Amino acid sequence: MAAAGLASLSVLAVPIVLRGIVDGPIAHHDLSGLWPLALALLLLGLAEAALFGVRRIIVARPLAKVETKLRGDLFAKLQRLPISFHDRWPSGQLLSRATSDLFVMRLFLAFPLVFLVVNSTVFLTGTALMFTLDWRLALITLIPAIPLIIYTRRFEAGYSAASRLAQDQNGDLATVVEESVLGIRILKAFGRHRTMAEEFRRHSADLRETELRKADLLGNLWAAIVGLPELALGAALATGAVLVAHDELSAGTLVAFLSTALALRWPVESIGWLLGFAAEAASAANRYFEVMDEPEPTDPPSGEAPSDDRGIRFTGVRFRYPDAPAGTPDLLAGIDLHIRPGETLALVGATGSGKTTLTALLPRLYEPTAGSITLDGTDVRDLPREELRRLVAVAFEEPTLFSATVRENVLMGAPGADPQRLAGALDTAQAGFVERLPEGLDTEVGEQGLSLSGGQRQRLALARAVVGEPRFLVLDDPLSALDVHTEALVERALRRVLADTTALVVAHRPSTVLLADRVALLDDGRIAAVGTHHELLQSCPAYRALMSGESELEGALAR
Ligand SMILES: Nc1ncnc2c1ncn2[C@@H]1O[C@H](COP(=O)(O)OP(=O)(O)OP(=O)(O)O)[C@@H](O)[C@H]1O
Ligand SMILES: [Mg+2]
Repeated sequence: MAAAGLASLSVLAVPIVLRGIVDGPIAHHDLSGLWPLALALLLLGLAEAALFGVRRIIVARPLAKVETKLRGDLFAKLQRLPISFHDRWPSGQLLSRATSDLFVMRLFLAFPLVFLVVNSTVFLTGTALMFTLDWRLALITLIPAIPLIIYTRRFEAGYSAASRLAQDQNGDLATVVEESVLGIRILKAFGRHRTMAEEFRRHSADLRETELRKADLLGNLWAAIVGLPELALGAALATGAVLVAHDELSAGTLVAFLSTALALRWPVESIGWLLGFAAEAASAANRYFEVMDEPEPTDPPSGEAPSDDRGIRFTGVRFRYPDAPAGTPDLLAGIDLHIRPGETLALVGATGSGKTTLTALLPRLYEPTAGSITLDGTDVRDLPREELRRLVAVAFEEPTLFSATVRENVLMGAPGADPQRLAGALDTAQAGFVERLPEGLDTEVGEQGLSLSGGQRQRLALARAVVGEPRFLVLDDPLSALDVHTEALVERALRRVLADTTALVVAHRPSTVLLADRVALLDDGRIAAVGTHHELLQSCPAYRALMSGESELEGALAR
């Protein structure tokens, strides 16, 4: 700001020197005094150029750092925010905030911010200078300022709204692009790429409309800002000429006045797009801080003293998703369940009954709305998150692999585990196919790497869950994508692992249920029955229906 300010003020010194030249050497027809003044002009020009250069040099590095820092903070925040936040926010909106909005903010800090301050200062200084040169001409020149100020205020409100809309539409567009790239197989298989292209075109047409509206607003403001002062300047020139003719004003002062007024043209004209840019940066900053100000889960301790109760215990656990329709019952309406230490409990229930949701409560991906969950007597809310995540390992229903090597993907479950543990985990998951991959354990998989089959991915996810030899293991339908033969092999190996851990295994098939010591049936948000597979087959018609593939109707009749 100081460099740009000095550079701009040096421009304002030029008219003073010009007055000296016109009223001195030129008026007296004596050119001997011209050289020092001409030299002064040259030096002023050089100073201006040098100072603007300095500004550019010193501004780039810190601003790149600011942008990097803001982006890093946003990324870290996104990682910390709870799953419920990510359920609500489309990824494209987050993406556009991390990219284009931050870019707009950096540009604003680099240029418009500096020049909003500098140009206002120059404008005020120049105006004061014009008043000292001749107050009558100064008043004439300033007349357009009044309508311009009123107009600018209206502009700002309209332009802010349009900028915000454009940025939101940009985010929507990013979401469409992302979904259509991730879902490209489905789109093609269903011949839906045209529909998606249509959708994209619609969004980008909306964005174009908004951008044109912004250009329109800015264009009108610009026309007023450029046009009105020009008229005033003409009036000042005519008045000045009359005053000079009547000897009420020196020719040098008129020259100085007019060149001051001309020097103020850029500061005034630039105000239009500087304000436009400021409005845009303000709404970009708003969007950025909407995410940054999202409350993070605070961890109120349970207030319960740890007991020497071993295993996993759910007590009166209730849960509903924040966006569940009003009037519907809670998805989990009072779960009481005890998994004894070292025991494997299978959780069964109709599809959509809340099994995945229940397992997600254990590593605290969601917080129960009531009730408590204890691990070996300690409430999960009282465990530091790292500790909790070390104790509990999860294999999710949808096995996600990251763009990294097989080794890195599996070792996510236990960073720094030795090669034997890694080999053991792959063995348990029957992931022998890894050896036949082009580069074995070092093969890149995930989005940027080799595509694996559903069953291969599922086995790697299983290996990831067991590699850390966790105390508590949660497996959400871990064998669903395997053929009967492989399933049997995995089950045999898994039995050894399950013998030493306390496990909750979501199961749909009798074969998976048989891995467990006991089975719990989830129905209507409650645990309807607990017992061994055979006990439940005997005593619980609903369970029998679920396992045998009887139709709903038959099950209900049997009940
Ligand atoms: N993130 C979410 N936000 C809102 N509702 C959700 C969310 N995830 C799941 N639901 C709803 O909660 C209910 C239970 O889902 P959940 O995934 O727990 O079922 P599930 O028992 O695991 O079913 P499946 O056997 O098909 O895997 C469903 O009706 C689903 O629509
Ligand atoms: Mg599920």
